[in-house]
Amino acid sequence: MPAVPFAKALLVAALALPAVRASSDSPMVPSYEVHLQLDPTAVLNSSYSLIADVLDEFAMPASVTEKNVQYIDTVDKALDAQGWSCRIRNIQTKAKFDLTYKWRLAINDSDIDAALNTALNDGWNSDQSKYEAQVDWYLSSQELSVQRDHKASEDGYSGLDDPSEQDSQSLLIDNAPKMFDNWAYSGWGTTELGSGVVYGPVLTKASAGTWNGVELDIEVWPIENAAGTGIDYLVEASFKTSNYTFASVGRTQLQDLLTSKGWFLDESNSKEAMVLANYHPTA
Ligand SMILES: *[C@@H]1O[C@H](CO)[C@@H](O)[C@H](O)[C@H]1NC(C)=O
Ligand SMILES: *[C@@H]1O[C@H](CO)[C@@H](O)[C@H](O)[C@H]1NC(C)=O
Ligand SMILES: *[C@@H]1O[C@H](CO)[C@@H](O)[C@H](O)[C@H]1NC(C)=O
Repeated sequence: MPAVPFAKALLVAALALPAVRASSDSPMVPSYEVHLQLDPTAVLNSSYSLIADVLDEFAMPASVTEKNVQYIDTVDKALDAQGWSCRIRNIQTKAKFDLTYKWRLAINDSDIDAALNTALNDGWNSDQSKYEAQVDWYLSSQELSVQRDHKASEDGYSGLDDPSEQDSQSLLIDNAPKMFDNWAYSGWGTTELGSGVVYGPVLTKASAGTWNGVELDIEVWPIENAAGTGIDYLVEASFKTSNYTFASVGRTQLQDLLTSKGWFLDESNSKEAMVLANYHPTA
């Protein structure tokens, strides 16, 4: 590659700066995650592992990372009704529980800027460096999410066990960030968590590979079916980027590749929404 003249390199660097500086009156700057579903009958073998052709296509090792995922909400889903979700994961490769507080907003008519501005009115601005904004781009919908993670000790637990209902409540209450806790009124989040129940757990398996120069992940989620009579396997491929064009073009290219292989599933589901819809915990 020819050397870029110094002045031009400076110009390129200047153009690459984000258009807005972090401030309490500018919207958050999101990254993008594209999610597409794969047909479980085409890509899983009889032990529900990805078949070799899929592993080969994306240069994935046969080894997977197990993540035991559960969501905490009230029986009538009071957190979800306000756009919030609380997730706890026990990840095989991590020594601590992973806690996530996430707020979501539907993006209408692909108008991402409108969603960012609605979020700004709700208090989400580019000054909030502890939160990450992301556009989740599904086959037939987009959603803005703003999330913050915490780590919590796994003391008293072993293997891939997730915390009990009571411990889940207290871990999430102890770490609750203010934006969450004071969302509907002061102390709202922790009040609702006090009667939180467990949706899940779902023992998921993640494979990491490469596609188009970026990391491509495929996750297999065995989720109870709506009737509660068996398990449906949700298989999702996803990649992340901070580049809107790459997300948009890549999404079409990935869909085309999956279709040509006979692996594409023409459905558009959020894993979390399916867990919340299909599990029916009682108080
Ligand atoms: C399914 O695939 C996995 C990983 O490729 C392999 O270890 C396992 O033996 C396969 N199971 C069957 C029943 O083919
Ligand atoms: C999108 O439409 C839904 C349903 O009408 C609404 O709740 C939501 O606030 C809208 N999103 C934006 C960004 O305006
Ligand atoms: C964003 O992605 C597009 C499509 O891959 C590419 O042409 C462009 O150079 C990328 N922009 C940046 C700033 O990386």
